[in-house]
Amino acid sequence: FVPRRESGVLRGLRVVVTAGPTREKIDPVRFISNRSSGKMGYAVAAAAREAGADVMLISGPVQIPVPLGVERLEVESAEQMLAAVQTALAGSGAVGNADILIAAAAVSDYRMIEIAPQKIKKTSDTMTLALMRAPDVLGTVSRLPSRPFLVGFAAETEHVERNALAKLAGKNLDMIAANRVGEGLAFDRDDNALTVYWRDGKRELAFNSKAALARQLVEVIAERFHARAG
Ligand code: CTP
Ligand code: CA
Repeated sequence: FVPRRESGVLRGLRVVVTAGPTREKIDPVRFISNRSSGKMGYAVAAAAREAGADVMLISGPVQIPVPLGVERLEVESAEQMLAAVQTALAGSGAVGNADILIAAAAVSDYRMIEIAPQKIKKTSDTMTLALMRAPDVLGTVSRLPSRPFLVGFAAETEHVERNALAKLAGKNLDMIAANRVGEGLAFDRDDNALTVYWRDGKRELAFNSKAALARQLVEVIAERFHARAG
């Protein structure tokens, strides 16, 4: 047990962080997922804790130890992640009535309309999976009447700034942290670079270790959170 720090830019605040990929079942032995390693989300959870917050980390399947002093809840699907976030935000636990939600998870956009109850056999040369939209965790929370301060992530292969600003406005976020992804960039690496946008400003966080970037991101989040709270 690590006592909460009495100093730090997020002291006394309750923070929920989503991290990692989600998995959508296809059949009992297969799933749809993505290349998220969870490293950035876990680094952000650790940095928020270091900054004095009570942190609940809601995580898809990853191979990373729980940061000291952070409470972790493990989920698989987008639907489970949404349910866990809603419970955390409503709950009376460590982060009930959370002040800040940081959505670093790479949540699946689609899921199977129906999960096959048995292993699918190969019967033809081509095959099509029938998918439907999975719930948007951040989008759902952003429509709540009393929503926390919302920080999104945007991992883009092109038009990074344009796409990030569209997501900031589209999901009515308080901030978004954007980065370029692709071959050899960001995924499953220990380093990255981020540009953070809010309605009337932006900050470049230069290429650095994810641990250092996470600390800088937490500084910017605290700055904007306190500026908004007045
Ligand atoms: N997000 C989420 N639930 C989803 C999809 C995304 O909570 N089902 C969150 C991510 O955690 C991230 C932000 O929304 O903080 C943006 O995710 P991203 O995948 O970049 O954007 P989408 O809105 O899904 O748009 P698209 O994938 O089409 O670019
Ligand atoms: Ca998406």
